[in-house]
Amino acid sequence: MPLVAAENLVKKYDDLTAVDGVSFTIEEGQIFGFLGPNGAGKSTTISMLSTYLPPTSGDAVIDGISVTREANKVRNIIGVVPQDIALYPTLTAIQNLRFYGKMYDMGGESLERRCQELLELVELWDRRDSRLEQFSGGMKRRINMAAGLLHHPRFLLLDEPTVGVDPQSREHIFETIFKIRDSGTTILYTSHYMEEVELLCDYIAIMDRGKLVASGTLKELLSVLGEGGVIELEVAPTGCSEKLEADISRQQGVTSVKHQDGRLVIFSDNSARSLPPVLKVLEEMRCDVIHLEIFTPNLEKLFIHLTGKELRE
Ligand SMILES: Nc1ncnc2c1ncn2[C@@H]1O[C@H](COP(=O)(O)OP(=O)(O)OP(=O)(O)O)[C@@H](O)[C@H]1O
Ligand SMILES: [Mg+2]
Repeated sequence: MPLVAAENLVKKYDDLTAVDGVSFTIEEGQIFGFLGPNGAGKSTTISMLSTYLPPTSGDAVIDGISVTREANKVRNIIGVVPQDIALYPTLTAIQNLRFYGKMYDMGGESLERRCQELLELVELWDRRDSRLEQFSGGMKRRINMAAGLLHHPRFLLLDEPTVGVDPQSREHIFETIFKIRDSGTTILYTSHYMEEVELLCDYIAIMDRGKLVASGTLKELLSVLGEGGVIELEVAPTGCSEKLEADISRQQGVTSVKHQDGRLVIFSDNSARSLPPVLKVLEEMRCDVIHLEIFTPNLEKLFIHLTGKELRE
């Protein structure tokens, strides 16, 4: 049985539907990734799973417990690391963790041990007595993560834990996430960076405008694009006209063509075979090629394929 099952979650704000009928399951021990652009509904979904926001309709069950009917029980078994850092700048690292521990009714020797264990996990034990305001963005994120883990949650929700973090701290956060997973905690990870999700997640759900547009393992998701590679083209002098787009989409092996920032993104089941006829069309229409690149399929290209938009605006 999956650890988490969301069933038709909907969240409406007046006339805006932020989350529009989202269903998914997360197996125990997985790192499950939510990938989507700004405003896709990732944080709103996390808020419903973590009982901070009641769904307009639908429900989710975590370890058999309903987030709408038994919110207090759910809070004991989940850990939440919010997108916005929620720590006290004038308290030290360890004082912040003690504060959160007390909110979970922890105390005494066991709380002290847990604080040490977690500060060691995020490799900030030697900075335990520094005030948070003296920490870098990445260090604050690591303490934020430790705070979400104090009460040994079975399920940890991480909302964009690498935003505003330098590359070295990001590596650090990834290592910590793998350690948390290896210790048996199931993780929901949200990001709008496809590289992060590709690297970290066992299973990926792609979200756009409140809906899941695709989900699966990385391999399953990319198989939608075939193995042929994706051709990207920029031409002069007339640019990528609708006629050009239509002519190219009729060529051998071409499955779809999307217009993107003045470029054509051409999906085909075999780019090597599709390229010569595509070039012939360009020649016939007297277009000069300014840029031509063949990409191996990745999540960014899949997102364009599915939505006609880029992941990052
Ligand atoms: N409290 C609120 N009141 C009204 N609208 C809201 C509220 N919170 C979020 N929204 C809207 O709901 C939509 C989804 O927002 P959400 O924060 O869930 O997106 P996200 O995928 O987490 O985006 P980001 O990558 O920017 O964090 C957006 O259009 C947002 O403007
Ligand atoms: Mg968000």
